[in-house]
Amino acid sequence: MFDKVLNEKIQGTALKKEFKNVGNKKMYIESYGCQMNFSDSEIVASVLSREGFRTTKTLEEADLVLINTCSIRDKAEQTVRNRLKYFQSVKKKYNKKMTVGVLGCMAERLKEKLLDQEKLVDIVVGPDAYRDLPKLVKEIEDGKKGINVFLSLEETYADINPIRLSGNGVTAFVSITRGCDNMCTFCVVPYTRGRERSRDPKSIIKECEELIKLGYKEVTLLGQNVDSYLWYGGGAKKDYKNTTVDQKKVWNFAKLLDEVAKINPDLRIRFSTSNPQDMTDQVIDIISKHKNICDYIHLPVQSGSSKILKLMNRGYSRKEYLNLIKKIKNKIPDCAISMDMIAGFCNETEKDHLETLSLMDIVKYDYGYMFKYSERPNTPAAKKLIDNVHEKIKQRRLTEIISKQREHSLMHMKKRIGKTYKVLIEGISKKSIKFYYGRTTHNATVVFEKGEKKVGDYVNVKIKDCTSATLIGEII
Ligand code: 5AD
Ligand code: SF4
Repeated sequence: MFDKVLNEKIQGTALKKEFKNVGNKKMYIESYGCQMNFSDSEIVASVLSREGFRTTKTLEEADLVLINTCSIRDKAEQTVRNRLKYFQSVKKKYNKKMTVGVLGCMAERLKEKLLDQEKLVDIVVGPDAYRDLPKLVKEIEDGKKGINVFLSLEETYADINPIRLSGNGVTAFVSITRGCDNMCTFCVVPYTRGRERSRDPKSIIKECEELIKLGYKEVTLLGQNVDSYLWYGGGAKKDYKNTTVDQKKVWNFAKLLDEVAKINPDLRIRFSTSNPQDMTDQVIDIISKHKNICDYIHLPVQSGSSKILKLMNRGYSRKEYLNLIKKIKNKIPDCAISMDMIAGFCNETEKDHLETLSLMDIVKYDYGYMFKYSERPNTPAAKKLIDNVHEKIKQRRLTEIISKQREHSLMHMKKRIGKTYKVLIEGISKKSIKFYYGRTTHNATVVFEKGEKKVGDYVNVKIKDCTSATLIGEII
């Protein structure tokens, strides 16, 4: 699901984003958390650019400072709080008229608290209320309270043309669903992002076509649970069963993926996140049918123990998950697979933990994103279960999971040595300006000497060496 951005998420770092200069007022935005937040910041940029906001790299000179936030773990929230405190000190020192706004999941979860009790911000805007930002900015200039945390059953921002902030001009995020109905017991997302709804496929296809015209070569279709995509004319997924609709007009994720792949064989397609309980055989068939759909699936498992999966309300058992992996490997033999894993969930015993390690040994994931369980207020787990695995044990189990994953990642990287892969050049390597970096279909990062090629070109790269995170090769 997360590739480069996820690495940043896992390390708890943030990307600083800037907008094109379009007016007199200056704004500055930072995004934290999942790819969806980065994509949402591009919608926010678009909404505010229409109101004459131009961007600045310099926090101190901004009139409007926005922070797009994540609530998934306590640590993510603490990082944002520290940042907000820093913004307040900058405001005091450089620009008392600076407006500071919080967007995203923390805005939705904490609502007025950030305004009234913590006094860290002037504006609080939830994930479904970004169209209201210009109005809220004006209102607080008039001394009113700037808050909108209304969660919608319809909002998908389908008509808003995002301002691309990723900067490479080659890869882009395209959001296809919002919200989540899955109610995993540990997860705060259904409460911060609301009910699941899908975006009109016509607007998704149009956005991809426009990206191609601008020279983009890869799109990542985004949603909390992409396999659950369902277009039946608009509205919440939960209301679908009460609606009479011509079945020919209904689109599921397999159909969407098929149609997006058909737009242009040179457009690479990725998607994230897949939920094991919703991934269908049809989706696996479509991935195997199209060369331009990448052979990479992020398939969070969260635990290798059926007992824990049940407590998490994941909707699948260990056996069902392993069957799904088998189906994927049968249809797409060299498909790379990654996971999310939570160590130390409520009631997790040593036996459950060993089942997690043994599942990892069976699947041998290419990549993994691994976390210690962090209880989130008001989630079903917080209400009904006890966070009873001692911090030290959680940490030890997490360390064991991470070190096993490192071995598996290295093994996968090593097996690529000597082989040749088609790589999309995404930019100049951080290590040396003489090198480019790009990714293989399997989402493995490759660095190689530039030669005569340019960013956005596809090249064939022969792999010569590797670390556990990067392949090193040369263009052939
Ligand atoms: N504690 C730890 N990790 C969590 N995740 C979601 N909620 C929590 C939590 N309360 C992880 C899951 C999910 C990923 C995005 O974050 O692994 O797949
Ligand atoms: Fe959270 Fe589960 Fe929805 Fe993912 S599928 S966002 S983990 S509730």
